[in-house]
Amino acid sequence: MKNEQARSVLIFGGAGFIGSNLARHMLLRTEAKVHIFDNLSRTGVHHNVEWLRKLAPHRDRLQVTVGDIRDAQLVEKAVSAATEIYHLAAQVAVTTSIADPRLDLEVNVGGAFNVLDAARRCGHRPFLLFTSTNKVYGNLGLPEPIVTPTRYDYPGCPGISESQPLDFHSLMAAPRAPPTSTCMILPGFTACPPWSSACRASPAPGNSGPKTRDGWPISSIRPCNAAQ
Ligand SMILES: NC(=O)c1ccc[n+]([C@@H]2O[C@H](COP(=O)([O-])OP(=O)(O)OC[C@H]3O[C@@H](n4cnc5c(N)ncnc54)[C@H](O)[C@@H]3O)[C@@H](O)[C@H]2O)c1
Repeated sequence: MKNEQARSVLIFGGAGFIGSNLARHMLLRTEAKVHIFDNLSRTGVHHNVEWLRKLAPHRDRLQVTVGDIRDAQLVEKAVSAATEIYHLAAQVAVTTSIADPRLDLEVNVGGAFNVLDAARRCGHRPFLLFTSTNKVYGNLGLPEPIVTPTRYDYPGCPGISESQPLDFHSLMAAPRAPPTSTCMILPGFTACPPWSSACRASPAPGNSGPKTRDGWPISSIRPCNAAQ
């Protein structure tokens, strides 16, 4: 992007695992203004906010809003100045989604709607990135991947095709039969704070299939027209 200083990056869920590392990247590697919007409902994420405040070289580069994406007016206000929106705020726990499905629906569907609708109505067409989960695909039915030292490849298929259907009926399914793989985004392999749940992650009990993790550097998340 030609005018880096004109970038105004808004990260919903900016105190979370991916969001805080994305914010760090934006603060250290770009000139963009960074606005993190998070209700701090995830245990321990206030540490991430303190970490980011220490990193921000100039106070006016980092704005923090403690707010909830279910609050449409607050979301709209935040979106009004954003040139880039990264929607990473979510209720991520499957156990919570079963114990309190209304909360899950209101945050993950209603909150996402508020973000999309605010972006649609703001009038300046900001870039918007939304993160989903590999679980939406279920069993891909692809041939066994070719394992190389750095990545998995599928024969004749460089990635997951846009035409791959979603597996709606099994989103909440019990652990599947092996082979099972999980996908995890890691923060550039360097900045995983010790309080992050990802650092403590361990295989789910009862799921006996082989497990793999793919790591993507946070720095690879950016609009296609941005320099960093
Ligand atoms: N971490 C991964 O490896 C991974 C992989 C694939 C997809 N994802 C998806 O990326 C997104 C972010 O993942 P993460 O690992 O950073 O999760 P995270 O739990 O660390 O971060 C989510 C953030 O959202 C905030 N939040 C929750 N509810 C909110 C609400 N109502 N209003 C405002 N903020 C709220 C939490 O406080 C937290 O800081 C999720 O949608 C997740 O499903 C993550």
